[in-house]
Amino acid sequence: MDKIRIRGGKPLNGQIAISGAKNAALPLMAACLLTDETLTLTNAPRLVDIATMGNLLAQHGAEVRREDPPEGGAVRGGELHLTARTITSTTAPYDLVRKMRASVLVLGPLLAREGKARVSLPGGCAIGTRPVDLHINGLTQMGAKIDLVGGYIEAEAPGGLHGASIVFPMVSVGATENLLMAAALAKGDSELINAAREPEVSDLAHCLVAMGAEIEGIGSDRLRVRGRDRLSGTRHAIVSDRIEAGTYAMAAAITGGKLELLHTRLDLIQAVTKVLERAGVEFSETADGVMVSRANGELLGVDVMTEPFPGFPTDLQAQMMALMCTARGAAMITETIFENRFMHVPELARMGANITVHQSSALVRGVEKLTGAPVMATDLRASVSLVLAGLVAGGDTELNRVYHLDRGYDRLEAKLAACGAEIERLRDGD
Ligand code: UD1
Repeated sequence: MDKIRIRGGKPLNGQIAISGAKNAALPLMAACLLTDETLTLTNAPRLVDIATMGNLLAQHGAEVRREDPPEGGAVRGGELHLTARTITSTTAPYDLVRKMRASVLVLGPLLAREGKARVSLPGGCAIGTRPVDLHINGLTQMGAKIDLVGGYIEAEAPGGLHGASIVFPMVSVGATENLLMAAALAKGDSELINAAREPEVSDLAHCLVAMGAEIEGIGSDRLRVRGRDRLSGTRHAIVSDRIEAGTYAMAAAITGGKLELLHTRLDLIQAVTKVLERAGVEFSETADGVMVSRANGELLGVDVMTEPFPGFPTDLQAQMMALMCTARGAAMITETIFENRFMHVPELARMGANITVHQSSALVRGVEKLTGAPVMATDLRASVSLVLAGLVAGGDTELNRVYHLDRGYDRLEAKLAACGAEIERLRDGD
């Protein structure tokens, strides 16, 4: 398996192009199942999860074609052309779904279009139990009959789905997206109350509108959908990845460098900039992005709690913890979205961090310096937090299980190396 080796201590300076958001791209790709016309998505990141979703859609009968600009050219991602003229299989098999939890997003579209779907219960990142009851309950309210048989969700709606008023007992990004897609092709009106407001949900809603759906309340926690008999194809640019932008903002901050993050906007990463500003990091808007620097002064410990959007994202919690490891003072980091999302803590401790976990909170006491070590992580964001720690640690850090990074970061080593990081990928067998 590939490894990444980092020699820490170099401040990062330069520009990093932010890719299209993985978490927007995956539901957008699933939306191709709602129409027999072509859905073209531009600004598509190069990620293993995108390829996995492509394989899943192809398995349902969609034609999946990807075009990428030549390497070294303007790095604006590729184009995905997705055409589900006919659905040849309504089963999403275990061997594909287990690789990526977001595979469950095909459930709503398949059920709405074909009246049946059989989707394996998902796997994905090892960050807690992550049930799918909200997806199932919502679709049941829309008229589906759902059983769990042999590890599969078996759903049927022979007469099609009908609109419903669905109140989510807790905020779920995936359930909001699944039900939004189903409602767009259901008979009658639906209302999703306490819906997730993440920009990736809004990106999906805008694309569905371009496909002919009628959706009101985009960006709010109350989405009203008027179902349509059929939807059409469209061309849609995937929103920029705010988690990737936040990660590189923290890379600039942890190394005491200055980076221009291209193709992003301050309003998209506001939850992060507000917290980082309190920690002594500076942000300003540029013509095509955001400048971030910690040129003057030290990093200060700040408390942070993860929350649904517009709060601080759970997908940046691990990176924030790495940042706080070398800050002056202490930081209390509280995780409210997922249980068991502190698996980076023992690895950061191996690099010299001082962290005490009590239930869903971690108290990080800043240390003078971190030291490089061989480390590994069991999920995507935890892995990148170790990269951040490695960028500032003395000596070499060797990160194992790099496949987690490849699921969610488009050419991470190349982007960091171009800004002065000493980072290289050791291919299996090197
Ligand atoms: C999405 C993101 C993920 C991010 C998460 C929270 C994608 C592909 N992934 O995941 O990166 O960390 O949002 O911002 O977009 N829950 C239930 N029952 C359900 C569904 C969810 O109890 O049926 C719980 C989960 O266990 C979790 C919470 O709700 O505690 C939020 O999960 P959810 O927003 O659904 O996360 P995902 O959509 O899986």
